Amino acid sequence: MCWDGFSPVADTTPLPQAGRALGRLVVVGLGLIGGSFAKGLREKGLFGEVVGFDLDPRSRRLAVEQGVVDRCETDLAAACRAADVIQLAVPILAMEKLLAELARLELGNAVLTDVGSAKGNVVRAAGEAFGEMPARFVPGHPIAGSERSGVEAADGGLFRRHKVILTPLASTDGEALALVDRLWRELGADVEHMEVEHHDQVLAATSHLPHLLAFGLVDSLAKRSENLEIFRYAAGGFRDFTRIAGSDPVMWHDIFLANREAVLRTLDAFRGDLDALREAIDTGDGHQLLGVFTRARVAREHFGKILARRAYVDSMQANGDLVFLAQPGGRVSGSIRVPGDKSISHRSIVLGSLAEGTTQIDGFLESEDALATLQAFRDMGVVIEGPQHGRVTIHGVGLHGLKPPPGPLYLGNSGTSMRLLSGLLAAQPFDSVLSGDESLSKRPMGRIAEPLREMGAQIETATDGRPPLNIRGGQRLQGLNYAMPMASAQVKSCLLLAGLYAAGSTSVTEPAPTRDHTERMLRGFGYPLTVEGATVTITPGHRLQACAIEVPADISSAAFFLVAASIAEGSELLLRHVGVNPTRTGVIDILRLMGADIVLENLREVGGEPVADIRVRAAQLRGLEIPEHLVPLAIDEFPVLFIAAAVASGRTVLRGAEELRVKESDRIQVMADGLLALGVKAEATADGIVVEGGTLGGGEVYSHGDHRIAMAFSVAALRASAPIRIHDCANVATSFPNFLALAAEVGIRVSEEGAS
Ligand code: S3P
Repeated sequence: MCWDGFSPVADTTPLPQAGRALGRLVVVGLGLIGGSFAKGLREKGLFGEVVGFDLDPRSRRLAVEQGVVDRCETDLAAACRAADVIQLAVPILAMEKLLAELARLELGNAVLTDVGSAKGNVVRAAGEAFGEMPARFVPGHPIAGSERSGVEAADGGLFRRHKVILTPLASTDGEALALVDRLWRELGADVEHMEVEHHDQVLAATSHLPHLLAFGLVDSLAKRSENLEIFRYAAGGFRDFTRIAGSDPVMWHDIFLANREAVLRTLDAFRGDLDALREAIDTGDGHQLLGVFTRARVAREHFGKILARRAYVDSMQANGDLVFLAQPGGRVSGSIRVPGDKSISHRSIVLGSLAEGTTQIDGFLESEDALATLQAFRDMGVVIEGPQHGRVTIHGVGLHGLKPPPGPLYLGNSGTSMRLLSGLLAAQPFDSVLSGDESLSKRPMGRIAEPLREMGAQIETATDGRPPLNIRGGQRLQGLNYAMPMASAQVKSCLLLAGLYAAGSTSVTEPAPTRDHTERMLRGFGYPLTVEGATVTITPGHRLQACAIEVPADISSAAFFLVAASIAEGSELLLRHVGVNPTRTGVIDILRLMGADIVLENLREVGGEPVADIRVRAAQLRGLEIPEHLVPLAIDEFPVLFIAAAVASGRTVLRGAEELRVKESDRIQVMADGLLALGVKAEATADGIVVEGGTLGGGEVYSHGDHRIAMAFSVAALRASAPIRIHDCANVATSFPNFLALAAEVGIRVSEEGAS
C-alpha cells in the first residue's frame, strides 16, 4: 500500500478573532456525524449562527432541544440562505439528489463540503449537478463513528484525535480548502489531504473490504445447518473478526455501491491471495503459510510505526526529545553481556536470506538497525521467524530467490542496511527504492553508487549522492577492481555482495584494514573468496549453504563499559562473550595505550569469530596521540574514547578520522560541542580533535540523534561534578535497546528524564 498521497497541511488561515465570528453554518443531515460537526462548532462559537436541515421532524426537534443547532429549517433554500459554509452530511446515496437541489439554489459565496465515505462518486455527482465541480466545494471524510447513531448521539468531541481526509481537486479554491481544513482542526481532528482516487482505494482496502469480509463470513456461517453450534462455540477469533458485522447495513450498502470500482479492485487482489492460501493448505505448503503468517504478524505489530514512518522498536518515540539524565559520580562493578554485534547481525540476515536451507541465528541484536535489515528481507519475500530472545530462523531463498518488495524499503537510521543492500539490489531483476530517516537521508551514498555504476548498476540518488536511492533492476553487472578511497567496511561489503552476481571477479582493495565480518561469514556459508594483502576477491557461480550463527556481544556496545569501568575509581567489571575480531579491537588498543587495565580472558573462537570475556579495572588514564592505523579499527568507539580523553591527564590528539564527520552525526563537531559545554577544552579539527584532559562539569549536551553520542555522555557523568542532561536520545535503540537497564545494573546512574 502506498501512503504517499498523505500531506499534512500548514495552518495558514487566520482564525476569526473573538467577536468577529463567521456568519452562518448550515448542516444538511442531522445524524451522528452532521450533528456532531454542528454541535462541536456551535460550542466553539465560531459561527454567528448554526442552522440545521433534516427531512425528519424528530431529528430537527432534538437538534434544537439538545443545543446541536440554533434553529432548523424545513426548506432547503431557506436553510442555505446567506450561508458561509454548508456541510452535507446525508447518507452517501442521497448525495446525488441533494446536490441536484443545491445546484438550483443561489448559494452566493458559500463553501460546500461533505462527509461521505467514498469521494469519487460525490465529486462525480457534484460535477453532474453543477455542470462542473464547484471550486468552493471541498470534499471531505471524517474517519470517526460511534456505536450509537442519530442526532441524539451528537458529540462535539467526536472528531478529537481522529483523522479527517480532505480530497481537494486541482481546481478547488485555496481559501475554501483552508477554511474547511481549519474547521476540522478546531474540532481537534488530524487533517490530511489526499487525491480522490487514492482516498477511495485506501478506504476500500482498510475499511470497506474488512467490513465486506465480516458481513460475508457471518452470513455464510449463519446459513449453515450447524449454525447454532458455530455461534454457541464461537471463540474470541470469530467474535473479534466479525465485530464490525454489527454495523449499519443500510450505510454499508450505500458505501459499497458508491465505491464500487475501488472495492472491486481490492477484492480481486485479495481473492488472488486467498486462493494462494487455499492452494498452500491443499498442497501442504507449510513454508508458504508460515511466510504469510510471519509477515502478517509483524506487519500488524508494527502498523503504527510503519504509518508514522518510524522503524521497529517499541521504546522509540516518534517525536519529541527523549532526554537522558545522568547523575554524577559512581563506581562500576558486576558481570554483564551486552547485546549482539550489530555488524554481524546485519550480515547474518543478508547471507542467511541468500543461502539455501534454514539458517539459525542466536544472539541476534534486536535493535532498530538490525531489524530494519530483517524487515527489508521479509519485504522481499524471505520467511524469517523471530527474533525471540535473540533467536532468528531464516528460510533462505537462495541467491536468485528474492522477490520485488511491495514498496520502498525503509531503513530507518541504518547506514549499514542501506549500503549493504544497495550492492545486492543493484544485481536483482527488480527495481527497488531505499529510504531512511532524517539522519540517514543526509549520509553520503555516492561512495557506493559510483563503484556500483562502474559495475553497470543503475542507481539514482538525491542531490549530492544522498538517499533515497532508486535502483533499477535487471542490469548485467561486470566485475570490478576497486581501490577504495576510504577505509569502509560497508563499501567493501556492498561491492562483494554485488560481486556475487557480476560477470568475472570483483576485487576490493582497502587503504587500511576494516572489519572483515562479511568475508568471514561468506566463508562460513561455504562461499569461497580470496584475500591477498589488502585485496579481497570474489567470483560468482557458487552457492551459500545455510548454517548456524552465534552472534557475539558487540564490542562497540561493550566500549561504553570499558571506558566507564576505566574512569570510575574503584571499578571492576567483566564483559562476557564479546567479539574481539582484530579488525574491531582498536578501542582496547587505544585504551591500553592510555594506561587502561584491560585483560582478555577465556579467548575462544565461535562460528568463525574470536570471542573473549573482558575484565576491566579502573586506572589512571593518560592522553596520547592516537596512532592513525588504529582509526578504522576503532571507528565507532571515538565518542566514548573522547570521554576517556577528557578525564585523562594531558592532551589527546586524533588525526586521520575525517570519516567521523559522516557518521550518524558529525561526531567530531557534536562531541567537541558537548565537551565544551561540560567545561572541557576540546577543539575540532578537519580530520580529528584535540582534547585537553581535566575535569568534567555538568550541563546540557545534545546528541543530535546519534546513539553513540548519547551513550558516551551517559558514561561521562561518572566523572562529572554535576548532572548531565543529554538531549535527543531515542536513537539509542538503534544499536543498544537495553542500555539504560545494563547501565543501572553496573552502577551508572542514568535514566530517562521523568521516568521514576
Ligand atoms: C560498519 C562499518 C563502519 C561502521 C558502521 C558499521 C559495518 O562504517 O562505522 O557502524 O557493519 O560494515 P564504514 O564502513 O562507513 O566505516
